[in-house]
Amino acid sequence: MALLPILRYPDPRLHKKAVPVLRIDETVRKLIADMAETMYEAPGIGLAATQVDEHKRVVVIDVSEDKSKLLALVNPEILERSGEQVCEEGCLSVPGIYDKVTRSERVRVRALDAQGEPFELEAEGLLAVCIQHEIDHLDGKVFVEHLSQLKQGRIKAKLAKQARITA
Ligand code: NI
Repeated sequence: MALLPILRYPDPRLHKKAVPVLRIDETVRKLIADMAETMYEAPGIGLAATQVDEHKRVVVIDVSEDKSKLLALVNPEILERSGEQVCEEGCLSVPGIYDKVTRSERVRVRALDAQGEPFELEAEGLLAVCIQHEIDHLDGKVFVEHLSQLKQGRIKAKLAKQARITA
């Protein structure tokens, strides 16, 4: 396994739309394992392949307290959504920035697992937020794009400043 570098907003590669995985082979399983390791190390509760510059529809999530429930979603698709919730979100690609985003309270998702088996999942609360956040990444959308233009401008300026300090 290997730690993968995470792209930082406003890197334009975060806006690429990921393509569906046609065959789940060892390359995809290695990507899933590396993404999981990268997510746990960060630490974070979700990571989309887009964030590690792999533009395939692969997501890893673990919202459990003890980091024991790794969920790998390949080609995830939201079949149904209901309700509304507002949650303060952050993102490994937007370090140090947290803000409230409105999303669906519940979602039903269909995906393939790391073995290529299809499954469905009903999620609510934090897991539902995380799934929606990560699928947004696959579509080239970062959570700050749910915020006002004014806030997005401030966040870009702040991250550019951080990049200059750490460079
Ligand atoms: Ni994110």
